[in-house]
Parts: sequence; C-alpha cells; structure tokens
Amino acid sequence: MKDFLQHQIDYYSARAPEYDDWFYRRGRYDHGAAHKKQWQQEVRQAREQLHSGGRQRQILELAPGTGIWTAELIKMGERVTALDASPAMLAINRAKLRSDAVEYQRADLFNWQPSRQYDMVFFGFWLSHVPADKLEAFLGAVRSALKPGGRLFFVDSQRPDLSQQRVRNANLGEDRQERLLNDGRRFEIVKIYYEPAALTEILRRHGFEIEARATARFFIYADGRKPR
Ligand SMILES: C[S@@+](CC[C@H](N)C(=O)[O-])C[C@H]1O[C@@H](n2cnc3c(N)ncnc32)[C@H](O)[C@@H]1O
Repeated sequence: MKDFLQHQIDYYSARAPEYDDWFYRRGRYDHGAAHKKQWQQEVRQAREQLHSGGRQRQILELAPGTGIWTAELIKMGERVTALDASPAMLAINRAKLRSDAVEYQRADLFNWQPSRQYDMVFFGFWLSHVPADKLEAFLGAVRSALKPGGRLFFVDSQRPDLSQQRVRNANLGEDRQERLLNDGRRFEIVKIYYEPAALTEILRRHGFEIEARATARFFIYADGRKPR
C-alpha cells in the first residue's frame, strides 16, 4: 500500500501542470457550453456555502493542489497553512497566488499528525483519494487539527453518470481508477465516491457535528464543526 500511495503522489506531481484543465473544463474536459454552465453553477453553490461561514483566523488546507480553493480561503481567513505532498503542486499554488497569507508545507497526509490547532480545516477533492483503511486515522488527525468549535468544510466529486462522460476513467475495482495524462502516461489511484447520507453518518461517528450534501450533478460538500 505504501508504494501505491507514493504512486498517487507521483501521479499528482506529473499532472500538476495540466490539473486546472479538469476544474475549468478545458481541453479534453470540455464537454460543451451547457455542461460547463451547469458545472460552474454547482461550483458557485459550493463556494457560496464555503463563504457562508464567515471569517476565520487560522485555516488549514489539506492537499491544496494548484490553489483553486486556496484562493477562496485567503479571502476568508487571516492565515492559511497549505499542506501537500507534491512539490510541483505547491510550486504552482505559490506562483499563482503570490500571497503572504499562505504558508506552504510539504507533508504526506498518511504520515501526518497536526502539531497545532486551527479555526478551520478545509480540503477539496481529497477525501475520495483516502483509502478506506486509512480513513479513520485521517479523520482522527483532522479532528485533532481543529480547535473545539472549529469548522470542517470539504468538497469532493459525486459519483459520475458514466453515460454522460466523454473522458472515462477506467474503474479498476470499487475504489481504484486508472488515470491518463495528456502525454499518455497511465497511473492507478484511489477514488471512492460517497453518498451524502452515508458520509454524514461516517463523519458523525468520527465526532463531527456535520452534514454532507450533494449538488445537482457533480459535487458533494460537507459543512460542520468539531463540538466544543
Ligand atoms: C485531486 S487533487 C486536489 C487539489 C485541490 N485540493 C483542488 O481541489 O483542486 C489531490 C491533491 O492531493 C495531493 N496528494 C496526493 N497524495 C497526497 C499525500 N499522501 N499527502 C498529501 N497530499 C497528497 C496531490 O498532490 C494533489 O495536490
């Protein structure tokens, strides 16, 4: 499993320069105007929910990647600590945002214990890459990283409707996918799709006061707190 999780880091490092095409629906992710409009509307919905919590002082962002959500977090927090295992992702994030409010740290989240507590923890499109047998330890670390009453927010992928997809990721069993880069390289990664009700249940069992919801087609998000 260790090599496999390193492989997942290697995949994101190799994908870093083309990663934003996925989020902005460009290149091979361009499925036409109607699809993009719907996608953007659902991104807006998740973003509005994120901002509805008001300002936070210290925010921890896990697996921030190229900074798509870091850019939102610096609008709502005094300081953002952004922690990712991929130097290539961290370099793009830093170059894009050029913000003194962000502190970058390189860390492997499967070998990570927080050394302090934050007012908020955020992660985008990360939970789906946490293998089932690592979920408990990961959520325990997130809980330790939050101050009592601190906010947890995350957004992730909804199970895709394969009949509507042009770019298909070959499913290799229930929690693995094969991913292809623009240059043809192939990588195997973890990808787990959660249903909101089941996810809410899991998160509450791990001690969060939280609710997960789905947008119409593309995303799920969870918004809640560590109890005081
Ligand atoms: C799907 S991307 C999400 C990026 C960003 N949060 C977003 O929503 O655009 C997954 C991120 O997880 C990072 N990552 C992969 N394995 C990791 C690990 N073991 N520890 C820390 N970060 C990891 C990758 O480098 C990548 O930036």
